[in-house]
Amino acid sequence: MSKRTDTASSVLEGESLDGQRMVITGCAGGIGLAAARALAAKGAHIIALARNADAASQAAAAIGHEASGVPCDLADLASVGRAARAIANNGHGPIDVVIANAGIGNLRERQVRHGVEMQFLVNHLAHFLLVDRLSPALRDGTGRVVVTSSSASVGQAPREGIEFENLDGAHGYRASAFYGQSKLANALFARSLAGKLAARGIVANSLHPGAVAHTGFNKSLKFPLSMILRLAMPFMKTPEQGAATIALLAGSSRAKGQTGLYWVDGMPAEGSRFLKDDALAQRLWATSRTILECEGFATTL
Ligand SMILES: NC(=O)c1ccc[n+]([C@@H]2O[C@H](COP(=O)([O-])OP(=O)(O)OC[C@H]3O[C@@H](n4cnc5c(N)ncnc54)[C@H](OP(=O)(O)O)[C@@H]3O)[C@@H](O)[C@H]2O)c1
Repeated sequence: MSKRTDTASSVLEGESLDGQRMVITGCAGGIGLAAARALAAKGAHIIALARNADAASQAAAAIGHEASGVPCDLADLASVGRAARAIANNGHGPIDVVIANAGIGNLRERQVRHGVEMQFLVNHLAHFLLVDRLSPALRDGTGRVVVTSSSASVGQAPREGIEFENLDGAHGYRASAFYGQSKLANALFARSLAGKLAARGIVANSLHPGAVAHTGFNKSLKFPLSMILRLAMPFMKTPEQGAATIALLAGSSRAKGQTGLYWVDGMPAEGSRFLKDDALAQRLWATSRTILECEGFATTL
């Protein structure tokens, strides 16, 4: 039975992940580092992706156990392509798990790169490319993809879900709505991916980690939100608790065979009403492919 207080270590009790290779983004700190440490402690070899070579080797060192670092700046699609090539071509065999966890949030100023708004790029599009490029290397029969979404996909996304005609924010930018949109894209991506990889026996799920204190995520908050956060901290999860559902979906036998779902506190949850909208999910997939292709990154899924 899952509890809000479960940790990444407690959900992996009794599991052995010896010999498994797991790729994770956003493990330089916060929830990703807590998840990576717990998975490595159970024997997984962690391939730690971080924004540059120094950050990647520091992340690998912080994880300890069996970990190697690979530079991957998710704001730069060429860097994502290079990282995927380095992992797929390193001759170490199949990948068991890809965890798309890195994220940025609530950027006050609109930033645009590769023709789209920065949160959509880093949180969704770059992970779409990474998973697409790594998918041939995912292990048939048991492979898993885990995508860190957020409850912001439910409460903060724009009224129509994804603003396809405004992906660069030129027709109006709201930091919180664009964060919500990118996190809805995460959950829709995992759901579509589940369908595309089902025939190979590979599962894909998304999750909300909870409101988690002491991560890098809320450092940029300004007064009065910073003060509200300080007051809320005692009631928020620790990074180890925030990482519990990631660890469950990546490494627990309890999550075996579960696919296409959005999870909260170790249980499947309803999530956004848009997760039932097949047309929206298909349009997001097609649009993401088209943008990547226009930027010179053809995809295969
Ligand atoms: N904390 C919460 O309450 C909460 C709630 C719901 C969902 N989430 C989600 O949980 C995930 C992890 O967040 P967190 O709370 O652990 O925050 P965090 O400590 O800030 O972790 C985010 C990670 O993403 C990495 N990242 C950001 N931009 C990147 C880029 N361009 N290239 C490569 N890596 C990049 C960061 O690396 P740097 O350190 O180098 O910037 C960091 O390692 C995010 O997807 C977030 O949306 C968090």
